[in-house]
Amino acid sequence: MEFKHQTVLLQEAIAGLNIIKNGVYVDCTLGRAGHSIEILKHLSNGKLYCFEQDEAAIIDSEQILNQNKYRNYEIIKNNFINLADELQLRQIKAVNGILYDLGVSSPQLDDYKRGFSYRYDGPLDMRMNQTASLTARMIVNTYYQAALVKLFQNYGEETFAKVLAKNIVIARDEQEIATTFQLVEIIKNSLPQKILKKTKHPAKRVFQALRIEVNQELFVLQESLRQATTLLAVHGRLVVISFHSLEDRIVKKYFQSLTQDPNYETNQQLPVISYFESNYRIITKKALVPSIDEQTVNHRSTSAKLRILERVK
Ligand SMILES: C[S@@+](CC[C@H](N)C(=O)[O-])C[C@H]1O[C@@H](n2cnc3c(N)ncnc32)[C@H](O)[C@@H]1O
Repeated sequence: MEFKHQTVLLQEAIAGLNIIKNGVYVDCTLGRAGHSIEILKHLSNGKLYCFEQDEAAIIDSEQILNQNKYRNYEIIKNNFINLADELQLRQIKAVNGILYDLGVSSPQLDDYKRGFSYRYDGPLDMRMNQTASLTARMIVNTYYQAALVKLFQNYGEETFAKVLAKNIVIARDEQEIATTFQLVEIIKNSLPQKILKKTKHPAKRVFQALRIEVNQELFVLQESLRQATTLLAVHGRLVVISFHSLEDRIVKKYFQSLTQDPNYETNQQLPVISYFESNYRIITKKALVPSIDEQTVNHRSTSAKLRILERVK
């Protein structure tokens, strides 16, 4: 079965990268190569490095890129937490632009066998990298109740974390929770009627929390962004598209921390002039969001936010 991914904020991301024809670029999240192809269209003698940890995405993207006859790219099958190491191996010291289009792709969500979606019955898996050891099934069946509460609260911002964790523990004592629909059933039976009637799916927050934990998404993002900003050449751009508030908060706070005087708070209290000059500047004071047209044709784009940072010296 063929699964398609509709690229989000494509033109905005490409404009944000401000591509120079001979530059070196990194797409940290290849997916089905939607952004990568557009970057390659703008390059002549430049080079694009693409990170991806999902084997299925790499196989599909290789086909897509070969059909388009592009040669000036390399796919790196690795987690983007290893961005700096992988570029160092290739003797790349600075790059002109780096893009992150975070989260999972539609093909990952739509393939029931991957276990990412509460809409299809499948194994509780949720690994982007299918060779990784931790699965959602392991978390749900082995984490202490208190750890599940923290997980649902911190990564899912779930109000009913306590009752959900309690009911999961009761259910797993009876029978291992192995499938997405088993978990959805427990969630539905734990929540009050008025919550179940809301438009958002009742399992959305728990599934988000599990996915973040399985793939260590927030830690990996923080660490990789740190590497990305040190790799940027002068005038180089960093473009990040995020899909939920936890990710966006990390990006926003990190960009602010790079551009604000570290003594800003103290200086506010004192009659001193700050001589702080940042090496970076935030291009997007407010995050860019998809147009209404894009949101209408691609429902999955509705929560997207795009932020851009530039290295200035
Ligand atoms: C939203 S999709 C990207 C879609 C792509 N921009 C396109 O238009 O086709 C995110 C992709 O990044 C990959 N990914 C997410 N986190 C990653 C990480 N830490 N390291 C490497 N790849 C990652 C996922 O496997 C997924 O295929």
